[in-house]
Amino acid sequence: MNMNLGGDNLPEGKEKYEAVQEMFDRIAPRYDFVNRIMTFRLDVRWRKKTVKALGLPRESIVADLACGTGDFCVELEKAGMLPIGFDFSFGMLSASPSFSILSQADVLRLPVRENSLDGVTCGFALRNLTELPAFFEEVSRVLKAGGRFGFLDVAEPENRFLNWGHHLYFDRIVPKVGALFSDKSAYSYLPRSFSYLPPHQEIISMIEKAGFTRVERKLFTPGSTQLFTGEKA
Ligand SMILES: C[S@@+](CC[C@H](N)C(=O)[O-])C[C@H]1O[C@@H](n2cnc3c(N)ncnc32)[C@H](O)[C@@H]1O
Repeated sequence: MNMNLGGDNLPEGKEKYEAVQEMFDRIAPRYDFVNRIMTFRLDVRWRKKTVKALGLPRESIVADLACGTGDFCVELEKAGMLPIGFDFSFGMLSASPSFSILSQADVLRLPVRENSLDGVTCGFALRNLTELPAFFEEVSRVLKAGGRFGFLDVAEPENRFLNWGHHLYFDRIVPKVGALFSDKSAYSYLPRSFSYLPPHQEIISMIEKAGFTRVERKLFTPGSTQLFTGEKA
């Protein structure tokens, strides 16, 4: 069933949860392929930079939340860390080429003991969650004191010209590429989903409220991707 991520108003709460889960189950088999085309493989570089920015030693236990097909787990494995991926879409987990342990779970209610992880990553999923403050609190619950996080997501370039190009690309080209190789409605939802993401200052303040310090934001070229890092106080 195709739920209403394509309607005039984007859903919230339980309706959003179910629609997002159903959409990712549906697009999972071609998700990685379309991602690489759409980002010109830059997504791989952004994840590598995120893993580096974590600054954690080898053998650190790192949960990748909303791991999808496990792209972050692959990068964490390469860096000698011990990743565990969590995602609520069984389709995405089944399409994973990673060797890490993967578990089907809601990242707002992780089956993980408090203060047990060295690090947490999350790629391109913040805007798909139903409650951001609850997510940051859950990350704070499972991280050890001093544990590090890296959250990667889309951003709007501040430069007017780049912003125009960004909108042209995401609003017009991405839905067509998605329709050609995968699913039209899912890739039309992608640019619309940007509106779920609060301004970065608000995100930083939510993260700090959840008990984190040294929170920083970095933009990756061409300003359409942002990385938040920080550590549990
Ligand atoms: C855009 S994909 C990103 C996947 C992967 N992190 C990446 O970097 O490619 C968003 C993922 O968030 C997952 N997701 C959204 N809400 C979730 C939730 N509440 N619990 C677990 N996974 C969730 C979806 O199933 C999907 O796999």
